[in-house]
Amino acid sequence: MPSALITGITGQDGSYLAEWLLSQGYQVVGMMRRSSTTNVGRIEHLLDDMIVLQGDLQDQGSLLSLLEEHKPTEVYNLAAQSFVPTSWNQPALTGDVTALGVTRILEAIRFVNPKIRFYQASSSEMFGKVMEVPQKESTPFYPRSPYGVAKVYGHWITVNYRESFNLFATSGILFNHESPRRGLEFVTRKITDAVAKIKLEKQKELRLGNLDAQRDWGFAGDYVRAMWLMLQQDQPDNYVIGTGETHSVREFCEIAFAHVGLDYKEYVVVDERFYRPAEVDLLISDPSKARAQLKWEPQVSFKELVTMMVDSDLARQQKLG
Ligand code: NAP
Ligand code: GDD
Repeated sequence: MPSALITGITGQDGSYLAEWLLSQGYQVVGMMRRSSTTNVGRIEHLLDDMIVLQGDLQDQGSLLSLLEEHKPTEVYNLAAQSFVPTSWNQPALTGDVTALGVTRILEAIRFVNPKIRFYQASSSEMFGKVMEVPQKESTPFYPRSPYGVAKVYGHWITVNYRESFNLFATSGILFNHESPRRGLEFVTRKITDAVAKIKLEKQKELRLGNLDAQRDWGFAGDYVRAMWLMLQQDQPDNYVIGTGETHSVREFCEIAFAHVGLDYKEYVVVDERFYRPAEVDLLISDPSKARAQLKWEPQVSFKELVTMMVDSDLARQQKLG
Protein backbone atom coordinates (compact mmCIF):
# COMPACT_ATOMS: atom_id res chain seq x y z
CA MET A 1 0.00 0.00 0.00
CA PRO A 2 1.50 3.40 -0.92
CA SER A 3 1.73 5.78 2.03
CA ALA A 4 1.96 9.54 2.27
CA LEU A 5 2.73 12.12 4.91
CA ILE A 6 0.95 15.46 4.42
CA THR A 7 2.15 18.49 6.38
CA GLY A 8 -0.50 21.21 6.63
CA ILE A 9 -3.26 18.59 6.85
CA THR A 10 -5.65 21.04 8.56
CA GLY A 11 -5.38 23.55 5.68
CA GLN A 12 -7.47 23.90 2.54
CA ASP A 13 -5.17 21.86 0.30
CA GLY A 14 -4.37 19.29 3.00
CA SER A 15 -8.04 18.33 3.21
CA TYR A 16 -8.49 17.91 -0.57
CA LEU A 17 -5.20 16.08 -1.00
CA ALA A 18 -6.05 13.65 1.81
CA GLU A 19 -9.40 12.91 0.13
CA TRP A 20 -7.67 12.30 -3.19
CA LEU A 21 -4.93 10.04 -1.78
CA LEU A 22 -7.43 8.01 0.24
CA SER A 23 -9.48 7.51 -2.93
CA GLN A 24 -6.30 6.19 -4.60
CA GLY A 25 -5.78 3.57 -1.85
CA TYR A 26 -3.04 5.38 0.12
CA GLN A 27 -2.40 5.12 3.80
CA VAL A 28 -2.42 8.80 4.83
CA VAL A 29 -0.63 10.34 7.79
CA GLY A 30 -1.41 14.00 8.42
CA MET A 31 0.82 16.29 10.45
CA MET A 32 -0.74 19.09 12.45
CA ARG A 33 0.79 21.50 14.93
CA ARG A 34 -0.32 21.45 18.52
CA SER A 35 -3.05 23.90 19.39
CA SER A 36 -5.08 24.54 22.55
CA THR A 37 -8.33 24.35 20.58
CA THR A 38 -9.44 21.80 18.00
CA ASN A 39 -8.68 22.79 14.45
CA VAL A 40 -9.87 19.86 12.34
CA GLY A 41 -12.99 21.37 10.75
CA ARG A 42 -11.79 20.69 7.19
CA ILE A 43 -10.79 17.06 7.87
CA GLU A 44 -13.37 15.95 10.43
CA HIS A 45 -15.01 13.66 7.84
CA LEU A 46 -11.67 11.90 7.20
CA LEU A 47 -10.47 11.28 10.75
CA ASP A 48 -11.54 7.60 10.81
CA ASP A 49 -9.66 6.91 7.57
CA MET A 50 -6.26 8.44 8.30
CA ILE A 51 -3.78 9.02 11.10
CA VAL A 52 -3.29 12.58 12.34
CA LEU A 53 -0.26 13.31 14.51
CA GLN A 54 1.41 16.32 16.04
CA GLY A 55 4.51 17.81 14.47
CA ASP A 56 5.81 21.23 13.53
CA LEU A 57 7.95 22.54 10.67
CA GLN A 58 9.82 24.57 13.29
CA ASP A 59 10.85 21.40 15.14
CA GLN A 60 13.38 19.15 13.41
CA GLY A 61 12.96 16.25 15.86
CA SER A 62 9.23 15.98 15.27
CA LEU A 63 9.80 15.61 11.51
CA LEU A 64 12.46 12.93 11.97
CA SER A 65 10.21 10.95 14.34
CA LEU A 66 7.22 11.05 12.00
CA LEU A 67 9.25 9.74 9.07
CA GLU A 68 10.98 7.06 11.15
CA GLU A 69 7.75 5.78 12.69
CA HIS A 70 5.44 5.89 9.68
CA LYS A 71 7.81 5.24 6.76
CA PRO A 72 5.88 7.15 4.09
CA THR A 73 6.83 6.65 0.45
CA GLU A 74 5.70 10.21 -0.44
CA VAL A 75 5.82 13.47 1.53
CA TYR A 76 3.71 16.48 0.54
CA ASN A 77 4.91 19.67 2.26
CA LEU A 78 1.83 21.88 2.32
CA ALA A 79 2.42 23.52 5.70
CA ALA A 80 3.30 27.21 5.65
CA GLN A 81 2.47 30.62 7.05
CA SER A 82 0.49 31.21 3.86
CA PHE A 83 -1.28 34.55 4.30
CA VAL A 84 0.65 37.26 2.44
CA PRO A 85 -0.30 40.30 4.63
CA THR A 86 0.74 38.44 7.82
CA SER A 87 4.17 37.96 6.29
CA TRP A 88 4.87 41.70 6.69
CA ASN A 89 3.81 41.61 10.36
CA GLN A 90 5.63 38.34 11.14
CA PRO A 91 8.47 38.19 8.61
CA ALA A 92 10.88 36.18 10.76
CA LEU A 93 8.26 33.56 11.63
CA THR A 94 7.24 33.39 7.98
CA GLY A 95 10.88 32.79 7.02
CA ASP A 96 11.34 30.16 9.71
CA VAL A 97 8.25 28.14 8.76
CA THR A 98 7.76 28.79 5.04
CA ALA A 99 11.45 28.85 4.06
CA LEU A 100 13.60 27.01 6.65
CA GLY A 101 10.80 24.54 7.35
CA VAL A 102 11.42 23.13 3.87
CA THR A 103 15.09 22.51 4.70
CA ARG A 104 14.11 20.77 7.92
CA ILE A 105 11.82 18.34 6.14
CA LEU A 106 14.35 17.72 3.35
CA GLU A 107 17.00 17.01 5.99
CA ALA A 108 14.66 14.54 7.69
CA ILE A 109 14.09 12.77 4.35
CA ARG A 110 17.82 12.70 3.62
CA PHE A 111 18.62 11.08 6.97
CA VAL A 112 15.66 8.69 7.30
CA ASN A 113 15.03 7.52 3.73
CA PRO A 114 16.41 9.38 0.68
CA LYS A 115 14.09 7.34 -1.56
CA ILE A 116 11.00 9.20 -0.31
CA ARG A 117 9.37 11.27 -3.05
CA PHE A 118 8.94 14.91 -1.94
CA TYR A 119 6.49 17.58 -3.10
CA GLN A 120 7.09 21.24 -2.19
CA ALA A 121 4.14 23.65 -2.33
CA SER A 122 5.72 26.51 -4.23
CA SER A 123 3.74 29.54 -5.30
CA SER A 124 3.02 31.96 -8.13
CA GLU A 125 3.75 34.68 -5.53
CA MET A 126 7.40 33.97 -6.40
CA PHE A 127 6.81 35.69 -9.78
CA GLY A 128 5.62 38.85 -7.94
CA LYS A 129 6.47 41.85 -10.10
CA VAL A 130 6.26 39.69 -13.17
CA MET A 131 9.18 39.54 -15.56
CA GLU A 132 7.15 37.81 -18.28
CA VAL A 133 3.47 37.35 -19.24
CA PRO A 134 2.25 34.61 -18.94
CA GLN A 135 4.49 33.00 -16.30
CA LYS A 136 6.06 29.59 -16.88
CA GLU A 137 8.71 27.40 -15.23
CA SER A 138 11.60 29.43 -16.70
CA THR A 139 10.21 32.88 -15.79
CA PRO A 140 12.59 34.65 -13.36
CA PHE A 141 11.29 35.27 -9.84
CA TYR A 142 10.75 38.75 -8.35
CA PRO A 143 8.91 38.22 -5.07
CA ARG A 144 7.04 41.16 -3.52
CA SER A 145 6.41 40.04 0.07
CA PRO A 146 8.32 38.26 2.84
CA TYR A 147 6.04 35.31 2.04
CA GLY A 148 7.10 35.37 -1.63
CA VAL A 149 10.76 35.63 -0.61
CA ALA A 150 10.36 32.64 1.73
CA LYS A 151 8.73 30.59 -1.03
CA VAL A 152 11.61 31.37 -3.40
CA TYR A 153 13.98 29.93 -0.77
CA GLY A 154 11.73 26.85 -0.41
CA HIS A 155 11.73 26.35 -4.16
CA TRP A 156 15.49 26.64 -4.57
CA ILE A 157 16.35 24.45 -1.58
CA THR A 158 14.09 21.79 -3.14
CA VAL A 159 15.96 22.07 -6.44
CA ASN A 160 19.27 22.10 -4.57
CA TYR A 161 18.54 18.89 -2.61
CA ARG A 162 17.48 17.26 -5.89
CA GLU A 163 20.81 18.22 -7.46
CA SER A 164 23.04 17.77 -4.38
CA PHE A 165 21.67 14.54 -2.93
CA ASN A 166 19.73 13.06 -5.84
CA LEU A 167 16.44 13.27 -3.91
CA PHE A 168 13.15 12.93 -5.78
CA ALA A 169 12.29 16.51 -4.81
CA THR A 170 9.66 18.25 -6.93
CA SER A 171 8.43 21.83 -6.82
CA GLY A 172 4.85 22.62 -7.86
CA ILE A 173 4.48 26.32 -8.67
CA LEU A 174 0.76 26.66 -8.08
CA PHE A 175 -1.28 29.72 -8.97
CA ASN A 176 -4.12 30.78 -6.64
CA HIS A 177 -6.61 28.02 -5.95
CA GLU A 178 -9.76 28.41 -3.97
CA SER A 179 -12.76 26.47 -2.71
CA PRO A 180 -15.54 26.61 -0.15
CA ARG A 181 -12.82 25.50 2.33
CA ARG A 182 -10.59 28.54 1.66
CA GLY A 183 -9.61 30.54 4.76
CA LEU A 184 -11.95 33.48 5.40
CA GLU A 185 -9.25 36.14 5.16
CA PHE A 186 -8.27 35.37 1.53
CA VAL A 187 -10.03 37.70 -0.88
CA THR A 188 -12.23 35.13 -2.68
CA ARG A 189 -13.70 33.66 0.48
CA LYS A 190 -13.95 37.09 2.12
CA ILE A 191 -16.11 38.12 -0.86
CA THR A 192 -18.31 35.00 -1.03
CA ASP A 193 -18.90 34.97 2.72
CA ALA A 194 -19.84 38.67 2.62
CA VAL A 195 -22.15 38.14 -0.37
CA ALA A 196 -24.01 35.49 1.62
CA LYS A 197 -24.25 37.69 4.72
CA ILE A 198 -25.36 40.74 2.70
CA LYS A 199 -28.00 38.69 0.89
CA LEU A 200 -29.31 37.45 4.26
CA GLU A 201 -29.15 41.01 5.69
CA LYS A 202 -26.51 40.08 8.29
CA GLN A 203 -23.94 42.54 6.87
CA LYS A 204 -24.30 45.91 5.11
CA GLU A 205 -21.06 46.42 3.16
CA LEU A 206 -17.82 44.72 2.14
CA ARG A 207 -14.51 46.53 2.67
CA LEU A 208 -11.75 45.49 0.28
CA GLY A 209 -8.34 46.74 -0.86
CA ASN A 210 -7.05 46.72 -4.43
CA LEU A 211 -9.91 45.74 -6.76
CA ASP A 212 -7.67 45.86 -9.84
CA ALA A 213 -5.31 43.06 -8.79
CA GLN A 214 -5.52 40.16 -11.25
CA ARG A 215 -5.14 36.52 -10.39
CA ASP A 216 -5.24 33.18 -12.18
CA TRP A 217 -7.82 31.47 -9.93
CA GLY A 218 -8.60 27.75 -10.07
CA PHE A 219 -10.34 25.15 -7.90
CA ALA A 220 -8.24 23.55 -5.13
CA GLY A 221 -9.77 20.10 -5.76
CA ASP A 222 -8.30 20.14 -9.28
CA TYR A 223 -4.87 21.31 -8.09
CA VAL A 224 -4.22 18.53 -5.57
CA ARG A 225 -4.48 15.98 -8.42
CA ALA A 226 -1.61 17.82 -10.09
CA MET A 227 0.50 17.51 -6.92
CA TRP A 228 -0.01 13.75 -6.92
CA LEU A 229 0.67 13.42 -10.66
CA MET A 230 4.00 15.21 -10.19
CA LEU A 231 5.17 12.50 -7.78
CA GLN A 232 4.13 9.71 -10.18
CA GLN A 233 6.58 10.87 -12.91
CA ASP A 234 9.88 9.14 -13.64
CA GLN A 235 11.95 12.19 -12.69
CA PRO A 236 11.56 15.07 -10.21
CA ASP A 237 11.00 18.46 -11.83
CA ASN A 238 9.33 21.91 -11.51
CA TYR A 239 5.80 22.46 -12.83
CA VAL A 240 3.57 25.52 -13.17
CA ILE A 241 -0.08 24.76 -12.39
CA GLY A 242 -2.82 27.25 -13.28
CA THR A 243 -5.77 27.79 -15.60
CA GLY A 244 -4.08 30.15 -18.09
CA GLU A 245 -6.83 32.76 -17.47
CA THR A 246 -6.70 35.87 -15.33
CA HIS A 247 -9.49 37.86 -13.64
CA SER A 248 -9.55 40.92 -11.41
CA VAL A 249 -10.84 41.11 -7.85
CA ARG A 250 -13.50 43.45 -9.26
CA GLU A 251 -14.67 40.76 -11.74
CA PHE A 252 -14.81 38.23 -8.92
CA CYS A 253 -17.06 40.64 -6.96
CA GLU A 254 -19.24 41.31 -9.99
CA ILE A 255 -19.99 37.60 -10.59
CA ALA A 256 -20.37 36.74 -6.89
CA PHE A 257 -22.88 39.52 -6.16
CA ALA A 258 -24.75 39.02 -9.46
CA HIS A 259 -25.21 35.33 -8.60
CA VAL A 260 -27.56 36.40 -5.76
CA GLY A 261 -29.15 39.21 -7.79
CA LEU A 262 -27.10 42.09 -6.31
CA ASP A 263 -24.87 44.79 -7.83
CA TYR A 264 -21.41 44.80 -6.17
CA LYS A 265 -21.07 48.56 -6.72
CA GLU A 266 -23.73 49.16 -4.09
CA TYR A 267 -21.92 47.19 -1.38
CA VAL A 268 -18.16 47.17 -1.98
CA VAL A 269 -16.18 49.94 -0.26
CA VAL A 270 -12.50 50.42 -1.05
CA ASP A 271 -10.56 50.65 2.21
CA GLU A 272 -6.87 51.53 2.09
CA ARG A 273 -6.24 49.45 5.20
CA PHE A 274 -6.34 46.40 2.92
CA TYR A 275 -3.72 47.73 0.50
CA ARG A 276 -0.34 46.00 0.67
CA PRO A 277 3.12 47.64 1.06
CA ALA A 278 4.05 46.05 -2.29
CA GLU A 279 1.45 44.49 -4.57
CA VAL A 280 1.48 41.65 -7.08
CA ASP A 281 -0.60 43.23 -9.84
CA LEU A 282 -0.98 40.49 -12.42
CA LEU A 283 -0.60 36.73 -12.35
CA ILE A 284 -1.41 34.48 -15.30
CA SER A 285 0.04 31.05 -15.88
CA ASP A 286 1.28 29.19 -18.89
CA PRO A 287 0.54 25.61 -17.76
CA SER A 288 1.50 23.97 -21.06
CA LYS A 289 4.25 21.81 -19.52
CA ALA A 290 1.80 20.32 -16.99
CA ARG A 291 -0.76 19.76 -19.74
CA ALA A 292 1.75 17.94 -21.93
CA GLN A 293 3.71 15.95 -19.33
CA LEU A 294 1.22 15.38 -16.53
CA LYS A 295 -1.87 15.31 -18.80
CA TRP A 296 -3.42 17.61 -16.20
CA GLU A 297 -6.38 19.86 -17.01
CA PRO A 298 -8.47 21.93 -14.61
CA GLN A 299 -12.13 20.83 -14.55
CA VAL A 300 -13.80 23.81 -12.85
CA SER A 301 -14.20 27.14 -14.70
CA PHE A 302 -13.80 30.56 -13.07
CA LYS A 303 -17.56 31.19 -13.04
CA GLU A 304 -18.27 27.72 -11.64
CA LEU A 305 -15.71 28.34 -8.90
CA VAL A 306 -17.24 31.69 -7.87
CA THR A 307 -20.81 30.37 -7.84
CA MET A 308 -19.81 27.16 -6.01
CA MET A 309 -18.24 29.29 -3.25
CA VAL A 310 -21.22 31.68 -3.02
CA ASP A 311 -23.71 28.78 -2.87
CA SER A 312 -21.72 27.08 -0.15
CA ASP A 313 -21.48 30.25 1.97
CA LEU A 314 -25.18 30.96 1.49
CA ALA A 315 -26.06 27.48 2.74
CA ARG A 316 -23.66 27.84 5.68
CA GLN A 317 -24.91 31.28 6.67
CA GLN A 318 -28.54 30.14 6.37
CA LYS A 319 -27.80 27.22 8.69
CA LEU A 320 -26.10 29.53 11.20
CA GLY A 321 -29.34 31.55 11.29
P1 NAP B 1 -3.60 27.05 4.44
O1 NAP B 1 -5.05 26.71 4.32
O2 NAP B 1 -3.20 28.34 5.05
O3 NAP B 1 -2.91 25.85 5.27
C1 NAP B 1 -1.61 25.97 5.79
C2 NAP B 1 -1.35 24.79 6.70
O4 NAP B 1 -0.04 24.91 7.26
C3 NAP B 1 -2.32 24.68 7.90
O5 NAP B 1 -2.63 23.33 8.10
C4 NAP B 1 -1.47 25.21 9.05
O6 NAP B 1 -1.87 24.74 10.31
C5 NAP B 1 -0.12 24.63 8.67
N1 NAP B 1 1.01 25.21 9.38
C6 NAP B 1 1.30 26.53 9.53
N2 NAP B 1 2.44 26.67 10.26
C7 NAP B 1 2.86 25.42 10.56
C8 NAP B 1 3.97 24.90 11.27
N3 NAP B 1 4.87 25.70 11.85
N4 NAP B 1 4.10 23.56 11.36
C9 NAP B 1 3.18 22.73 10.82
N5 NAP B 1 2.11 23.16 10.14
C10 NAP B 1 1.95 24.49 10.02
O7 NAP B 1 -2.89 26.96 3.02
P2 NAP B 1 -3.37 26.22 1.66
O8 NAP B 1 -4.16 27.20 0.87
O9 NAP B 1 -3.93 24.91 1.99
O10 NAP B 1 -1.98 26.07 0.91
C11 NAP B 1 -1.17 24.91 1.08
C12 NAP B 1 0.26 25.25 0.70
O11 NAP B 1 0.31 25.67 -0.65
C13 NAP B 1 0.90 26.37 1.50
O12 NAP B 1 2.28 26.07 1.63
C14 NAP B 1 0.72 27.59 0.62
O13 NAP B 1 1.71 28.56 0.91
C15 NAP B 1 0.90 26.96 -0.74
N6 NAP B 1 0.22 27.62 -1.86
C16 NAP B 1 -1.11 27.88 -1.77
C17 NAP B 1 -1.77 28.43 -2.85
C18 NAP B 1 -3.24 28.72 -2.81
O14 NAP B 1 -3.72 29.49 -3.66
N7 NAP B 1 -4.00 28.11 -1.91
C19 NAP B 1 -1.05 28.72 -4.03
C20 NAP B 1 0.31 28.41 -4.08
C21 NAP B 1 0.93 27.85 -2.99
P3 NAP B 1 -2.98 25.50 11.20
O15 NAP B 1 -4.31 24.99 10.70
O16 NAP B 1 -2.64 25.07 12.56
O17 NAP B 1 -2.83 26.97 10.96
N1 GDD C 1 -6.80 39.10 1.38
C1 GDD C 1 -7.30 40.18 0.78
N2 GDD C 1 -8.23 40.93 1.45
N3 GDD C 1 -6.87 40.50 -0.46
C2 GDD C 1 -7.42 41.59 -1.06
C3 GDD C 1 -8.38 42.38 -0.43
C4 GDD C 1 -8.80 42.06 0.89
O1 GDD C 1 -9.62 42.71 1.50
N4 GDD C 1 -8.73 43.37 -1.30
C5 GDD C 1 -8.03 43.20 -2.42
N5 GDD C 1 -7.22 42.12 -2.27
C6 GDD C 1 -6.26 41.65 -3.28
C7 GDD C 1 -4.84 41.53 -2.73
O2 GDD C 1 -4.21 42.80 -2.68
C8 GDD C 1 -4.24 40.56 -3.75
O3 GDD C 1 -3.76 41.29 -4.87
C9 GDD C 1 -5.43 39.70 -4.22
O4 GDD C 1 -6.60 40.34 -3.70
C10 GDD C 1 -5.40 38.26 -3.72
O5 GDD C 1 -5.17 38.25 -2.32
P1 GDD C 1 -5.29 36.89 -1.44
O6 GDD C 1 -6.60 36.24 -1.70
O7 GDD C 1 -4.96 37.27 -0.03
O8 GDD C 1 -4.21 35.93 -2.09
P2 GDD C 1 -2.69 36.17 -2.57
O9 GDD C 1 -2.71 36.18 -4.06
O10 GDD C 1 -2.06 37.29 -1.87
O11 GDD C 1 -2.00 34.85 -2.03
C11 GDD C 1 -2.60 33.56 -2.19
O12 GDD C 1 -2.17 33.00 -3.40
C12 GDD C 1 -0.77 32.71 -3.48
C13 GDD C 1 -0.50 32.12 -4.88
O13 GDD C 1 -0.34 33.16 -5.79
C14 GDD C 1 -2.21 32.70 -0.98
O14 GDD C 1 -2.96 31.50 -1.03
C15 GDD C 1 -0.74 32.35 -1.00
O15 GDD C 1 -0.46 31.43 0.04
C16 GDD C 1 -0.43 31.72 -2.36
O16 GDD C 1 0.92 31.36 -2.45
